[in-house]
Amino acid sequence: MDNRPIGLLDSGVGGLTVVKKVMQKMPHESTVFIGDNAHIPYGDKSKEEIIALTRQSVKFLLSKDVKLIIFACNTATAAAMPTIQKEVDQQIIGVIQSGSLAAAGVTKNKRVAVVGTQVTAASHAYQKELKFRDPEIKVTELAAPKLVPLIERDADAATCLTAVKESLAPIKQQDFDTIILGCTHFPIIRDQFAQVLSKRVQIVDPADQVAQYTYNVMKRDDLFSSPQAMVSHEYYTTGDVAMVNELGRSFLGEPMFSARHLDEGENHG
Ligand code: DGL
Repeated sequence: MDNRPIGLLDSGVGGLTVVKKVMQKMPHESTVFIGDNAHIPYGDKSKEEIIALTRQSVKFLLSKDVKLIIFACNTATAAAMPTIQKEVDQQIIGVIQSGSLAAAGVTKNKRVAVVGTQVTAASHAYQKELKFRDPEIKVTELAAPKLVPLIERDADAATCLTAVKESLAPIKQQDFDTIILGCTHFPIIRDQFAQVLSKRVQIVDPADQVAQYTYNVMKRDDLFSSPQAMVSHEYYTTGDVAMVNELGRSFLGEPMFSARHLDEGENHG
């Protein structure tokens, strides 16, 4: 038994899509989430910058005494996870391995598209993972940098739909039967993806598999909280609290959702 919280991080509100799945899968677990909204997007930054920023969020989560850490961000998983895992004792769980596992199990025609940030697409992290699971899978990786800023400012559905349509245009003619939402922001506009994609394309949100994988790790390592333990969920942002609260309330369906602002120096630079 271990009553400490699970830590999760992202560059912004996207990580809440993972928090939601983790909460659904493990209702007895407490969580601490940090969204580094002050520095979003990570998706067009250098590897060194992403490592430095992610390290700050990890430092903050460790100050909250978390028992394990989920990188609820594809970009941080691709660019920073191998480096930072060497620096901390807590196990770090990323989203890319889980997303690839889920997609490899779903595709029938062995053609998978991945849509994410520029850094995630350029890292070919999904391609490597998918090919590792099944060398016959053909992978198309696409960067869709326009979407994250729209989601962060809670743009209306029609604006998001147009942007999704434009973003997916380069792969419109391809015959993939599975697409991975390789950015944790994208499940927030999953409906818009579904409207643009053909009905035969399966949409994979890695967060489902991340929650399952986290559950498996916690079971293996005896990390579950006691069912009697007090459950709490804390949300922190380095950015605009009001905006994060609005999205948190609507997306998580928690009217009491309340994020706290984290200043520079409070383990975040
Ligand atoms: N949510 C992040 C991810 O999953 C992307 C947002 C960003 O560009 O910072 O990749």
